[in-house]
Amino acid sequence: MKTKLLLCLATAILAIHTPTVRAGEKSLESCMETMNKSYKAIKKQYADPAQKASTLELIAKLKSAAEASADFKPEMAAEMDPEKRTKFLTDYHAAIQELVKQVESLEKAVQEGRTKDCEKWLTEINESKISGHSEFMEKN
Ligand code: HEM
Repeated sequence: MKTKLLLCLATAILAIHTPTVRAGEKSLESCMETMNKSYKAIKKQYADPAQKASTLELIAKLKSAAEASADFKPEMAAEMDPEKRTKFLTDYHAAIQELVKQVESLEKAVQEGRTKDCEKWLTEINESKISGHSEFMEKN
């Protein structure tokens, strides 16, 4: 009985401390690379209705990599003092959440064949990339 209880406790502690890494991504870099590849491919074909199914698959990949990037911390966070780091990570998670919403809006626009809206969401995603990198990526 005691052993069972200890086992349950150990499992719960592990569950709390193990980050839930989705989509098989191993690092923030790999998430970003997946996003980059999917984004470029989507840009080439989103306006072609004949490729709708494949575009939706690419969007699913982009979304899953965006979601997975919330499970990692940008390298920049390592060098910060704790107070600054907490705010930095909160802002980072908010930016990723916003990006996921934009990808979901793009998905809906593709599903409904609203090409003009697809363009709008692709531009917004690109703007998130630019601002996300200026705020959260090391400049060297
Ligand atoms: C909210 C939006 C975004 C944020 C906050 C963000 C953040 C970051 C950060 C912090 C890094 C540096 C990696 C590290 O510190 O370990 C990075 C790298 C990178 N990101 Fe993003 N990013 C965003 C959106 C995007 C998007 C939409 C794309 C592509 C379409 C993208 C493509 C890349 C690429 C190619 C790299 C370089 C990866 C490498 O070093 O190989 N990012 N991003």
